[in-house]
Amino acid sequence: MDRRRFLTASSLMLAGLAAGGGALAAAAGGPAVRLRAGVLRKKFPEIAVPASFWGYNGESPGPQLRYRKGERLQVDLDNTLAQATTLHWHGLRVPNAMDGVPQVTQPPVQKGESFRYEFELKDSGTFWYHPHQKSFEQVGRGMCGALIVEEEKPIEVDRELVWVLNDFQIDPASGEHSPFGQIADHATKGRWGNVITVNGESVAAGRSESVRAGERVRLRLINAATARVFRLDFSAGEPRVIAYDGQAVRPAPLSDDDRIFGPGMRLDLVLDLMLPPGGVLDIADANSRRVLGRLLCSAEAPLRSEPLAAPIALAPNERVRPNLNKAVSHSIDFLGGDAGPPVIGAVDGRPIAYGEMKSKYGLAWTVNSHAAVEEAHHHEPLLTFVRGKTYVIAMTNKTGFDHPIHLHGHFFRVLSINGEKLKQEVWRDTVMLTPWSDAVIALVAEEPGDWMFHCHVLEHAAAGMMAVVRVE
Ligand code: C2O
Ligand code: CU
Repeated sequence: MDRRRFLTASSLMLAGLAAGGGALAAAAGGPAVRLRAGVLRKKFPEIAVPASFWGYNGESPGPQLRYRKGERLQVDLDNTLAQATTLHWHGLRVPNAMDGVPQVTQPPVQKGESFRYEFELKDSGTFWYHPHQKSFEQVGRGMCGALIVEEEKPIEVDRELVWVLNDFQIDPASGEHSPFGQIADHATKGRWGNVITVNGESVAAGRSESVRAGERVRLRLINAATARVFRLDFSAGEPRVIAYDGQAVRPAPLSDDDRIFGPGMRLDLVLDLMLPPGGVLDIADANSRRVLGRLLCSAEAPLRSEPLAAPIALAPNERVRPNLNKAVSHSIDFLGGDAGPPVIGAVDGRPIAYGEMKSKYGLAWTVNSHAAVEEAHHHEPLLTFVRGKTYVIAMTNKTGFDHPIHLHGHFFRVLSINGEKLKQEVWRDTVMLTPWSDAVIALVAEEPGDWMFHCHVLEHAAAGMMAVVRVE
């Protein structure tokens, strides 16, 4: 584990105190973490000058936050950026007021202001944090970080790796991000960049991590890119999936569908490194044909010759199972984009043709024939749920593009994809809808409030593919 990036709440507090941040000690009931949103510079081998980035505490990704299930998270966000910002805790079940959606759950945090996020960590898993204000730009400039909540009884491994995958579009000469908010990106597959990073390091640097043959590694992958979809490829070993989006599944070999790793999604894998001393395992992205990172076994004798016998199944988080016999059903159609059938959308309740939607409003996608303006975030709820009731949602992607669809504040059970029932019970907070595909999900409405439901290609969310689900 990379110690430098491994910050527990208490070590962050100590670091803050050492740096003179005396205010950190003030809160009762546990140390608060300060995350200072600000600008920084980063060097990449493929970019001539240090690139300008936005991040937290001088880092992009920001510090890894790590807790135990049941602990309380307390984070003070200080904004030093010229743009207002917020923090959203992707995948976590939080009280609505802590969800970090500007206009909907809190006023955006202006330059010079602070906001205290505080809630109990109900669930273990691999999560992440990112702003929800102008997220296509703010995440696109580097604002994100891993949030790991350890199980009460973690599985036995020799090593844990957390990889935050990212992708940036940077001018190689000037080191500036190319302009954000381009309709040509928003109306197609989103902004795919030229600098792919893992934990903030360009994959062009030939990243490698030293490991020891025979080890059992837990690899936590987080796709924090605004738009890039990875297709994971392992040169050796038999990766087994133990969690999707932080939610335990019965361990199973990585399937072809699992390899498609869209924005917002997480994957927890167990790798038994049955390699000789000096052996390598490359983890690559088949879409970009780049190696994301190499696990390089030392010359030491293997730690063991047979995979560790200890079980790898994670204890699942407690949750209420959907009662499918008493469910209320809804269907949601996603339309739009430059490669789909012509769209008649609605902006502010007024029917509007696709061309005009794009040119006048910068919108290109609809959710049930409605396009929402991101800047406002606030819209009439698409669906209204009653707390404790089960809802089944059939979602259809009527576009030629990938849409990882995300719901805030809930886990949902994926019942089927393209009409095919899933072989095992899978819970997620983000489900990939590949072009012209459909998925049926079920969930029990939880905390009251307005929860965002949107595509995690952040350019798509900004261009209309976003809605509110209200729980009463
Ligand atoms: Cu990862 Cu609406 O968020
Ligand atoms: Cu999308």
